[in-house]
Amino acid sequence: MNKKLIVGNWKMNTTLGEAQNLAKDIVKHNSPDVQIVLCPPAVNLYSVGEIIKDSSVLLGAQNCYFESKGAFTGEISAEMLVSVGCAYVIIGHSERRHIFKETNAMIQKKVAAAVRAGLIPIICIGETLEERQANKTLTVVSKQLRSATDFLFEDGITNFVIAYEPVWAIGTGLSATPEQAEEIHSFIRDTCAMDFGDSTRKVPLLYGGSVNESNAAILLTQPNIDGFLVGGASLKSDSFLSICNVV
Ligand code: PGA
Repeated sequence: MNKKLIVGNWKMNTTLGEAQNLAKDIVKHNSPDVQIVLCPPAVNLYSVGEIIKDSSVLLGAQNCYFESKGAFTGEISAEMLVSVGCAYVIIGHSERRHIFKETNAMIQKKVAAAVRAGLIPIICIGETLEERQANKTLTVVSKQLRSATDFLFEDGITNFVIAYEPVWAIGTGLSATPEQAEEIHSFIRDTCAMDFGDSTRKVPLLYGGSVNESNAAILLTQPNIDGFLVGGASLKSDSFLSICNVV
């Protein structure tokens, strides 16, 4: 695996001015050893894209709809994201799954739409605390994984990213331990390789859930962690860049 991939998911934070300032700070201190992707709120995508366009930092969206256009008030298509400069799109984030009731079936359609439009989907999967406590982690993760990726692998497509984000670790300050994360990452990697061959091993596997400057280094020592999807700690340039500098 070459460069580590560090994705900042700003969620529903940053007004236009705040987004511009954050992007300007990150571009200034951007390191060549990492691939940074910034995912601001949709209304700030174009403006952040203008700030980062001459740098190595890439633009990502937090969601998209699965239709290309039409009467879907309030939705944004993958093609529209491409047209404002996005290279990536986060799909199936646990907040989308739980607050907005996105199902595996919808997420599969969104992944397909993103790939069709030429975006690289960052597909999020992960179990809730109840599921973990009931020993259902592998079942849940493998169902989410298969639903979102089998059809891609069947078509020989490997240009996407998988983010393992245990729901209990998101925004709680309670990150998975390196061992807990690695257990699932190696499970994901082996499952894909077993079913679709070794070429699947090049799909980057990100960890997400309370990543910060103190736990990033130790998490990155794990062989199957290729980078991070960072929420809270991506909202301050100092903490986000410290995570990037760990690489
Ligand atoms: P967090 O969020 O880093 O604030 O836990 C991660 C995410 O939701 O992607």
